[in-house]
Amino acid sequence: MTAPSDALVIFGITGDLAYKQIFPALQSLVRRGHLNVPVIGMARAGSSVEELRTRARASIDERGDVDPAAFATLSGLLRYVGGNYEDPATFEALKAALDGAKRPTFYLAIPPSMFGAVATGLAAVGLADEGRVIVEKPFGRDLASAEALSATLHQHFDEPSIFRIDHYLGKEPVQNILYYRFANAFLEPIWNRNYISRVQITMAESFGVNGRGRFYEEAGAIRDVVQNHLLQVVSLLAMEAPGGRGDEAVRDEKTQAFRSMRPLTPADVVRGQFRGYRDEDGVAKDSKVETFVALRLHVDSWRWAGVPFYIRAGKCLPVTATEVLVELKRPPVNVFADCAAARPNHFRFRLSPQVVLSLGARAKRPGDAMAGEDVELDAFHQQPDEKSPYERLLGDAMRGDQTLFAREDSVLEAWRIVDPVLGPCTTLYDYDPGTWGPPEADALMRADGDGDAAWHNPEQELKA
Ligand code: BG6
Repeated sequence: MTAPSDALVIFGITGDLAYKQIFPALQSLVRRGHLNVPVIGMARAGSSVEELRTRARASIDERGDVDPAAFATLSGLLRYVGGNYEDPATFEALKAALDGAKRPTFYLAIPPSMFGAVATGLAAVGLADEGRVIVEKPFGRDLASAEALSATLHQHFDEPSIFRIDHYLGKEPVQNILYYRFANAFLEPIWNRNYISRVQITMAESFGVNGRGRFYEEAGAIRDVVQNHLLQVVSLLAMEAPGGRGDEAVRDEKTQAFRSMRPLTPADVVRGQFRGYRDEDGVAKDSKVETFVALRLHVDSWRWAGVPFYIRAGKCLPVTATEVLVELKRPPVNVFADCAAARPNHFRFRLSPQVVLSLGARAKRPGDAMAGEDVELDAFHQQPDEKSPYERLLGDAMRGDQTLFAREDSVLEAWRIVDPVLGPCTTLYDYDPGTWGPPEADALMRADGDGDAAWHNPEQELKA
């Protein structure tokens, strides 16, 4: 068992991530009694602890979630250290503020180009020895830069001390995929190429880039959500059962699943850009960055050979919802005439906005005729006081629990898979906001599917 951290240091405390995610997570940690160590906010300069408190309050207020007692405790834990990250004096000041803390967690909510300077600065004052470091996705811009970034961090932190956040892994429904697969005996005999025809994942967002044009220009849909969130989901769907009970058993099998995924080629990918994207702040007038991608992924393993995994993600689509659909093959013979036109069986995992597990089947309609209808058996969960992914992951990192973090080897594997299709490697099709992307995405699935192959469009609201 690793020892819990005795301080939390957040680099980039005045930035967007701290405002949107970290402050609310800190208050929730305090509320549950999971945070009672100093929280030191770091920024380049020109702020103060009072300003931090005001900012934290505004951030939590925006969510309508201020808990006066928890917020007062959090305010009391907050400290501020300002300074240039290349200046050794900044790290001396941090060390003084840490007041003897031995195992701080350092959250690098700053651009990756600064990771090296910060890691070196921490090491120079002896703070890297027992410290942990949390870094955000995307980890690197491609395989080469991710390897370089890893090498930089590894100069001062060993792998068990590096926590690569992918907030999807902290989501309840994403953990449920793993649980559902390996807590049920009925799935295993059919969870393979003999019974499953295809798997599809759609991550649809009805909004655009929400003022993050500058960030998005450097990313695009593949870097922003496919390389990390969605390939992580594929790894949970495709992995073998973890062997043994060791802490690393699940992450070992996930990495093995990543290793079986074939690198993408331009023929597997359709990229789109919504009309109006180029008018966003921070976006080039001739931008070739994709705000939509549809792709076909092959998993070359005994379990999955020949079963395509389709992934689709986009901004300005008709709804905001993320859903996995695992489609089964048809029965070998149609005993009932109406089955010829029926939908094949499926499993549906709604990952957001609600958590839903569904089994799609065919059942007889009451009456004289031997005719049926498609039904879904649903399990629906929603906890009112559910932990946010950031709360869960921050708490885990502070306790030294790596289970829900992306390990170096799986992150590098994921880059290997997307590397050949990063950048403007294929035609970029326009699409209108509020549509399901360019029609070429439909053609991608139809091209190699049986007659049943079509994108499944998640609905906004859960069916009653
Ligand atoms: C982030 C991406 O990682 O995930 C965003 O940068 C995206 O572009 C977001 O909107 C989606 O996360 P969630 O939890 O809202 O589904």
